[in-house]
Amino acid sequence: MSDVLAFVDANLGRFRSELYDFLRIQSISAVQEHEGDMRRAAEWLADRMRDAGLKASIHETPGHPVVLGEWRGAGDDAPTVLIYGHYDVQPPEPLDEWISPPFEPTERNGKVFARGSADDKGQLYMHVKAIEAHMKAAGKLPVNVILLAEGEEEVGSENLVPFVKEHADRLACDHVVISDSNMFDEGLPSILFSLRGLAYFEIHVKGARSDLHSGQFGGTVTNPGNALSQIIASLHDADGKVAVEGFYDDVAVWDADVLEGIRNLPFDEEEYRKSLEVPALGGEKGYSALERLWVRPTCDVNGILCGYTGEGAKTVLPGKAMAKVSFRLVPDQSPEKVKELVEAHVRKVAPKGVTVDIEPLHGGRPWRTRPQGTLVEAASKALEEAFGVRPVLQGEGGSIPIVVDFEEQLNASALLVGFALPGCNLHAPNEWFELEAYEKGIRALCMLYENLGAGAAG
Ligand code: BES
Ligand code: ZN
Repeated sequence: MSDVLAFVDANLGRFRSELYDFLRIQSISAVQEHEGDMRRAAEWLADRMRDAGLKASIHETPGHPVVLGEWRGAGDDAPTVLIYGHYDVQPPEPLDEWISPPFEPTERNGKVFARGSADDKGQLYMHVKAIEAHMKAAGKLPVNVILLAEGEEEVGSENLVPFVKEHADRLACDHVVISDSNMFDEGLPSILFSLRGLAYFEIHVKGARSDLHSGQFGGTVTNPGNALSQIIASLHDADGKVAVEGFYDDVAVWDADVLEGIRNLPFDEEEYRKSLEVPALGGEKGYSALERLWVRPTCDVNGILCGYTGEGAKTVLPGKAMAKVSFRLVPDQSPEKVKELVEAHVRKVAPKGVTVDIEPLHGGRPWRTRPQGTLVEAASKALEEAFGVRPVLQGEGGSIPIVVDFEEQLNASALLVGFALPGCNLHAPNEWFELEAYEKGIRALCMLYENLGAGAAG
């Protein structure tokens, strides 16, 4: 094992510059025009997997390709680990808010700034490098490995579900390991016990045949902007609860020890408030910020389109309005049921005089686990060795839609161990990844595979 870690130390500079090559590829899954970049990223990744000693293959889907890297030389007695990550990134807009260009990785203050540095190319590539370190320094891996990288996580993973079903035999494994989340704080690694799910909609409101003069017609027809605002306002009550009937029916009650664990985490709400530069925190009454983030569902407007938003005043009565609205879900809510409840709610509250259509976008199921057993032991020990401090257990407010499908289809439990930091601007301008976390994390992953191969925390 010391050879493996020495290999990591000796090659850190190269590990960084290779990651920067990966980050230069504009693999934006949501934008059609970047289809070629998506393919280039998939091919680049497959080549690096080969360099690391894996057998790599690219699999077509109706959307962006899946990249698989495999090595099964540890034998039938050794466990098989499926590692999952994604090579697609979110669009970088608004571009003028980036201090350095999003696809030109730039180091500042011990961090690398680039779109995808944290979510998820940096974290995915850490696994490629940990695998390479074992293969080059020891000639083998302590476990059998399947490395699956998808190109559609940021757009809902729709084509990955059928891919996993279709290739369930090939993907059969004992453990699933995913690094696409945060550490709890700088220097404090964590293991996740939950992820929220998602139900995402577009609400389209249509009024008169076209925009109208707001003086000539105002007062005679329902304004789609007013109607949409009314619909949006109806989604919450005065206590910040989601006011959709039946919405909380399936919200699970959490065990007292998990809630106790959350209360005991080193978290200061006032500092959190300051870091976000808001005059006060918001959300549902009666819960702490971490509870609101991890164990409570939410509803948020993600975008609104309506009327005149250019310079100066234009007295116009818009002909239509649209809002993107999403719900973060917690166990045991389901996106399908929430869709029905939201449709019924909007039908009920929509004012007369406009037509309202709801178009469902993507969704994902919430996930939770009781972190325990070999997998978690192996990870805790590896993280403690690499970071010098025992990891904490935490929930997560974001979503990784495929996790539940992996567990169901492959009958294996998932370990979520991430290395980004809470303030690292995921999906926002100036996304960054801490270089120290990159390096210590690669060492931790080397030790994780080792511990899993040794059969237990050992
Ligand atoms: N890496 C994130 C999930 C995440 C976010 C984990 C924050 C930990 C902290 C992932 O890439 C992501 O953004 N997922 C989407 C899923 C959606 C598009 C279905 C999300 O949560 O919005
Ligand atoms: Zn993301």
